[in-house]
Amino acid sequence: MLPLLLLIQIALCIAVPTPECDLRKIPITGGTYTVRDGGNVGSTVEYSCPPGMYPHPSFSRDCLYTGHWTDEDVKAQCRVVQCPRPEMFENGHFYNRTQKYFVGHVLHFECYGGFKMLGPESRTCQANGKWSGEVTICDDQEGFCLNPGIPIGATKVGSSYNIEQKVTYKCLKGLQMFGSEERECMENKRWSGAEPSCRYPYTFDTPEEVAEAFSSSLSENIESSDPERVEEDAIRKLRVKTGGLMNIIIILDTSKSVGPKNFGIAKDISEVFIEKISSFDFNPRYAVISYASFAKPIALLSDDDSVDADAVIEKIKAFKYTAHADKQGTNTRAALNETHNMLSLENTRDPKKFLETRNVILLMTDGKHNMGGDPTVEIKRIREILNIRKDNNREDYLDVYVFGLGSDISEEEINDIASKKDNEKHVFRMENILDMKKAFEIMLDDTEVLQMCGLSKERLADYEDIEQVFPWIAKITITRPGSEEKCKGSIVSKSFVLTAAHCFHLDELLHTINVRVGDKVFRVKNLYRHSDYNPLGKTDKGVEKSYDYDMALIELAQTLEFSSKIRPICLPCTTGATWALKLRGKSVTCSDHEKILLTDELVKAMFVAEETDKALERKDVIIKRESKRLACLEDTKKIDKFKDVPDIKDAITDNFLCTGGINPQVDPQTCKGDSGGPVIVPYKHRYMQVGIISWGTIISCKGPRRDPGPVPALSRDFHADVFKMLPWLKEILKEDLIFVD
Ligand SMILES: *[C@@H]1O[C@H](CO)[C@@H](O)[C@H](O)[C@H]1NC(C)=O
Ligand SMILES: *[C@@H]1O[C@H](CO)[C@@H](O)[C@H](O)[C@H]1NC(C)=O
Repeated sequence: MLPLLLLIQIALCIAVPTPECDLRKIPITGGTYTVRDGGNVGSTVEYSCPPGMYPHPSFSRDCLYTGHWTDEDVKAQCRVVQCPRPEMFENGHFYNRTQKYFVGHVLHFECYGGFKMLGPESRTCQANGKWSGEVTICDDQEGFCLNPGIPIGATKVGSSYNIEQKVTYKCLKGLQMFGSEERECMENKRWSGAEPSCRYPYTFDTPEEVAEAFSSSLSENIESSDPERVEEDAIRKLRVKTGGLMNIIIILDTSKSVGPKNFGIAKDISEVFIEKISSFDFNPRYAVISYASFAKPIALLSDDDSVDADAVIEKIKAFKYTAHADKQGTNTRAALNETHNMLSLENTRDPKKFLETRNVILLMTDGKHNMGGDPTVEIKRIREILNIRKDNNREDYLDVYVFGLGSDISEEEINDIASKKDNEKHVFRMENILDMKKAFEIMLDDTEVLQMCGLSKERLADYEDIEQVFPWIAKITITRPGSEEKCKGSIVSKSFVLTAAHCFHLDELLHTINVRVGDKVFRVKNLYRHSDYNPLGKTDKGVEKSYDYDMALIELAQTLEFSSKIRPICLPCTTGATWALKLRGKSVTCSDHEKILLTDELVKAMFVAEETDKALERKDVIIKRESKRLACLEDTKKIDKFKDVPDIKDAITDNFLCTGGINPQVDPQTCKGDSGGPVIVPYKHRYMQVGIISWGTIISCKGPRRDPGPVPALSRDFHADVFKMLPWLKEILKEDLIFVD
């Protein structure tokens, strides 16, 4: 009996399931495809075409239980993208008219006499099948509301623009509508709802379009939620928040079609989104919900740490795709029901505060609901609980953004769920999740965020560009007759790079110094050495060369333009660092910063090395403090060069931080070209500079390269302690940064 059973089992294991749909039927003319699950029932083929083309009859096919692919009889082919045809244009004319409008075609608009043109004079058909720019409108300025315009591809009924008048739109055949079908001219001279647009089913929003539209809607939201917010250009000041009450609820689709990889990316996106929100100097509460057949909260609004962005990020990270087990349907309603439940709990807890709090919901989905029923029912319930009615001006209290990813979504469904507001976009349809991630990364690069110190793209999984990982590193070259010296520095503001004083001769000529930042080389306007830096000042104490106060600031001849590759690092005791350390309130002091960054006897830190010509590399070291630092002094005393120094504290003053050695870990040594570079304490994904690489006791490097052999046990590296040199930094940087007391 037993052997037979075993045989059957072996046979079962060997039997490779034969594909049930015919793989020969799937190739696409002019494009490429990928098959998931090898052609078994339930497997999917995804098509892609070159830019300016789209797959016809659809972006994907499923292997149905009948053993046939969807639309199997239609041969897949890449077709040329068209833009919608202009059907109606009011109070003017446009040219050139043709039957079809392909990518690159330009439409020109003119208004009749007496009408003023709003929007662009010409629009170009783009590769995603959308016309560039906004809707062009010819308005006679006579109506109570402005002419709401006719999107290309739409027809409009209604041409009176007085108060309470309505207009309705329809899209031409084959086009899908996003936005509002009906709009009404309201008392505030704006049209209700959102401007409609008509698109072909193959049209997706590009990451750039999403970044711009989402970012502007979001900032408008956040800024208007804080009446005390003052626009500041370069320097952000901390204020105690009174006005900024907001709940942010992120809803992630974890259904089967998403897959573990894309779910991982969705988690990354949530992180970048939270980072973006924190760039607004703003402290909302977060909730995160994952949904498949059921909704599972990842983080609740009622959690004690729902204001702590990092705690929320940790919870998102810890959440597993497999949490829904085999319950992998798409129950969008359940997720919104969960949202409703969270909000109603808030309402019970503190009804007054609840009604003063704005709510932003961000829903990411890759499919239409297939269970649980109509999700928009829950949107109505959410509006009810927030007391939002047509007539009470409370629309500001709810913004529902929906990101539909891929071609399996229902345009109608995502459009119905999303908020509709004048001059804002809440519904986005993107080709895939990578495009969405890109959109969020672009948002992190906008000017407001670029001012933030100590940011890096290290946390984003697949960065390609090393400069985005260490965007605050500057490379300094000093070219003297017959020799060239290299040092590192850190960008601390738009005009200043912090580095070591010993990189320069006391009579260095400014024109010999070049500073490379990103891919640009800058000249130097001024070089400031710390006023107490005096390399020969301790020869009488046996110290051949003193590195005390080894700090210099280079003022660049041209100010830097911050970008994803060029950003400032955080200097302790500045308002930027206060923000990065997530400290709140007016009374934050410099010693609060020091307590967070340099408390333990062993502090995890890092520096950036450049061993080969281009690649920068992170090196993790441990700063030894208090009793652990004593070993630094003891070990240094044992080195020949220091045997004759009566008091080692003359060489290693209290102004130095110490790393190196082999205890409790083998610290990588600093080498020649590392001098002047920052010693950094990473704090919750932000990079805080606590030291400047100054000198080492044993240099066993070959030029900039670390010796591959064992690190000498006595080897120690010393770094100028930034906290000890703040008065000097403050003096020189007072125009560029705000320091706390
Ligand atoms: C419009 O069409 C005319 C001829 O029909 C052509 O000469 C002209 O270049 C076209 N203009 C544009 C902007 O396409
Ligand atoms: C919504 O949530 C409540 C509370 O968990 C539950 O009792 C109810 O059945 C849910 N409704 C739907 C439609 O899922």
